[in-house]
Amino acid sequence: MLEKTTAVILAAGLGKRMNSSLPKVLHLVAGRPLIHFPVHAALEAGCDKVVVVVGHGRERIEKFIFNNFGTNGKVKTSVQKEPLGTGDATRSGVDTIGHNTGRAVIFYGDVPLLTGQDIAAVAKALDADPSAVLAIATCTTDDPFGYGRIVRDASGHIVEIREQRDLRTDTERAIKEWNPGIYVARLGFLKEALSSLKPNNAQGEYYLTDIVSFATQRGDRVVGVPSRADVMCGVNDRAQLADVDRAMCARIAHHWRTQGVTIRDGARVEDGVVLGRDVTIESFAVLRGTTSVGEGATIDVGCVLTNADVGQGVTLKPYSIVTDSIVRARAQIGPFSHLRPKSIIGEEAHVGNFVETKKTTMDRGAKANHLAYLGDGVIGAGANIGAGTIFCNYDGFQKHTTRVGTNAFVGSDSQLVAPVTVGDGAYIGTGTTVTRNVPSGALAIGRAKQENKEGYADRLRARLKAQKESAKESE
Ligand code: UD1
Ligand code: CA
Repeated sequence: MLEKTTAVILAAGLGKRMNSSLPKVLHLVAGRPLIHFPVHAALEAGCDKVVVVVGHGRERIEKFIFNNFGTNGKVKTSVQKEPLGTGDATRSGVDTIGHNTGRAVIFYGDVPLLTGQDIAAVAKALDADPSAVLAIATCTTDDPFGYGRIVRDASGHIVEIREQRDLRTDTERAIKEWNPGIYVARLGFLKEALSSLKPNNAQGEYYLTDIVSFATQRGDRVVGVPSRADVMCGVNDRAQLADVDRAMCARIAHHWRTQGVTIRDGARVEDGVVLGRDVTIESFAVLRGTTSVGEGATIDVGCVLTNADVGQGVTLKPYSIVTDSIVRARAQIGPFSHLRPKSIIGEEAHVGNFVETKKTTMDRGAKANHLAYLGDGVIGAGANIGAGTIFCNYDGFQKHTTRVGTNAFVGSDSQLVAPVTVGDGAYIGTGTTVTRNVPSGALAIGRAKQENKEGYADRLRARLKAQKESAKESE
C-alpha cells in the first residue's frame, strides 16, 4: 500500500506515569505487549521499513521485537541515548534512513488501537496535496485533556500543536481538536525540521510536535486529517491501559461474533486466539496465547485456556484449565479438570472433575472421570482410570512413565508406581499399588486379605461404652 515509506515508532520514553519496573510498551493489552500493535499496524499499512526507537528498557523491548518480528526483515530498532523528548527520539529513528526521498510515518508506541487504515488515510492526504510537506491526524472530542491541541489561524489553517502543559490562555485551553500523533512527512522536510527543534517548553524537551510550527512559519502547508478518536487513545497510566485493553478485547470479540462465534459477556478472548464457527464461549472464560478452538466446541464458564488446541465439538465444562495441551474432537473435560503442559486428550475421551494430567496422552475414548493425578502417562484407547488413581511418576530425582494398555481397567484408589506398564485389557483391582508390570489380560490385585468377625461389632461397642462410663465415675 505505502511505497517508499518508513515507519518510525517511538518507544524510548520512561513511561513514568505507569509507575512500573516494566517498560511501558511491554505492558500487556489483550495478551500482547503494547508495542506489538503499532508495529503490526505499520506493516498492515504496507510500510516497507519499520524503525522502532528504543531507549528505556531497551534490551527487553529489542528482545520482544526480535523474537516476534525478527524474521520479517522489515522491522529494526534504533536507540535514543537519552529520553530528551519525542522530537529527539524521532531524530534517532530518522537518522537510520540513508536517503531523502520518499516519506516517513511517525507515530507513538503507546497508541495500540490505531490500525493500518488510520495510518494510510493520513498518507493518502499527503499524496493528494503535492504542495504540503506534512499531514497529521487530528481528533475532536469534548475532553481532550492531556493531549497536544491543534492551533489554527483565523482562516482555519493549522499553525502549530501546543502541549497541554504549554497552553497559555483560556481560548487555547478550550480547543477541542487534539493531536493523536500520526505524522506523515516528506523526508527532506522532516530531516530539516528535526534539526531545527529547540527544547524551549514546559518540559524542556525536544517536541516532535514542533515540526508543525517549523513548517507553517516558513510558509509550508500542513494538512489535517480528521481521524477516529476512539482508536487514538494513548496509554500513559494504568487507567488508560485498562481502557485500551477493554476496547481491544471488545474489538476481538466483535470480530469473532461476526464469524459465527457466541461469546458471552465477561468472557475474554485475547489477540492471536483462533475460533471456529458455532463455538460458544461462556462468561468468565479466558482464552489466550496461541489457543485455537474447533467448530462447535463449548468452553463453559470460568475455563482458562492458554496455548490450548481444542478440537471440534469438544465440551470443556466449567472451571477447567488447559495449558499447552491438545484436546481432540468431541472429548469432554471438566468440570474442574486441570490439563497441564503436553497433555494430549484423544477423541471422545473423558476427563472429569478434579483430574490433573501432565505430559500424558489419553487415546480415543479413554476415561478418567474423577479425582486422579495422571503424570507422564500413556493411556490406551478405551482404558478406564478409576476414581482416586495416582500415577506415581516422581522418585524425588527423575520422572518415569506409566503405560496403560488399550481397554485396560484401573480400579479406584490404585497407585501405579512408574516406570510401570499395564498390558492391553488388563484389570487392576481396586486399591492396588502396582509396582510390577501387568501382562495383557491379567488381573493385578495387591491388598491385605479381608477378615470378617461375626458379632464382633456389638461386643466392641459394649466394651467401649463401659470404658467411657468408668472413666466418668472416677472424675
Ligand atoms: C504526545 C504528544 C502529544 C499527543 C500525544 C498523543 C509530543 C511532545 N506530544 O504526548 O501532542 O497528543 O502524544 O498520545 O510529542 N518517547 C520517546 N522518547 C522520548 C519521549 C517519548 O521515545 O524522549 C516515546 C514514548 O515511549 C511514547 C511516545 O514517545 O511511546 C509518546 O511519549 P509520551 O511521553 O507518552 O507523550 P505524550 O505526553 O503522550
Ligand atoms: Ca503518550
